[in-house]
Amino acid sequence: GDQVKKLDVLSNDLVINSLKASYGSCVLVSEENKNALIVETEKRGKYVVCFDPLDGSSNIDCLVSIGTIFAIYRKVSNGEPSEKDALQPGRNLVAAGYALYGSATMVVLALEHGGVNGFMLDPSIGEFILVDRDVKIKKKGNIYSLNEGYAKYFDPAVTEYLKKKKFPEDGTSPYGSRYVGSMVADVHRTLVYGGIFLYPANAKSPQGKLRLLYECNPMAFIMEKAGGMATTGSQAVLDVKPDDIHQRLPIVMGSPDDVQEYIDIYKKHFHK
Ligand code: F6P
Repeated sequence: GDQVKKLDVLSNDLVINSLKASYGSCVLVSEENKNALIVETEKRGKYVVCFDPLDGSSNIDCLVSIGTIFAIYRKVSNGEPSEKDALQPGRNLVAAGYALYGSATMVVLALEHGGVNGFMLDPSIGEFILVDRDVKIKKKGNIYSLNEGYAKYFDPAVTEYLKKKKFPEDGTSPYGSRYVGSMVADVHRTLVYGGIFLYPANAKSPQGKLRLLYECNPMAFIMEKAGGMATTGSQAVLDVKPDDIHQRLPIVMGSPDDVQEYIDIYKKHFHK
């Protein structure tokens, strides 16, 4: 019999169908599909699109904000399109963005030769209105954001960094803590208010949790375009050369001064 389709499956179908109908893409990598989808010959275009159609899965059933993330590359190889066309470092991105379904719906878009712009959905006319032009992140914030429930498994660099935020020894005030558990919401807050978002490696998840192609790279691209930083601890996220479409990567991103402080502590511990 018919089954009610889950929201994440519906969103995936919607994104795939729209991309195919645009005649602009040839290879599609989705969080929901094990293998890359190769667009049928008649509908092919020159772009490779990686996306998470509905990110923040643990928040779907309880109505907390969720989002859609996407990253767009040019196909750079010659010949038949294949999964390999998606294994490009984030530095090659043409565009990346996300839609946040929060108390309003906003699309944030970053372009290769441009900055970051925010478009708010006006439901009365069904259009996205440019409301935040050339968004820049604060040099330094006062919020840290990570799942602190994993403290038992943190590596010493993360533990030391958090201690500095909670018990500063330089006379400054401790940072506030915010964690939605939806990457789009946590990254958007970081972009708008400043501060730092972390999903580092830990003893249970040696590569962290977030996926390089459709979570880390697009968000890192937006952050850098907004004047922020995104690192694994030892390397800029955008410089990582992927070898699997679903690979995970530790990520720390946000205001440049905050991320640099984390990198300095990380270096001390790992001598990299
Ligand atoms: O699957 C991705 C995701 O839902 C992200 O949106 C979010 O940042 C992360 O998982 C939360 O993971 P955790 O529950 O381990 O904190």
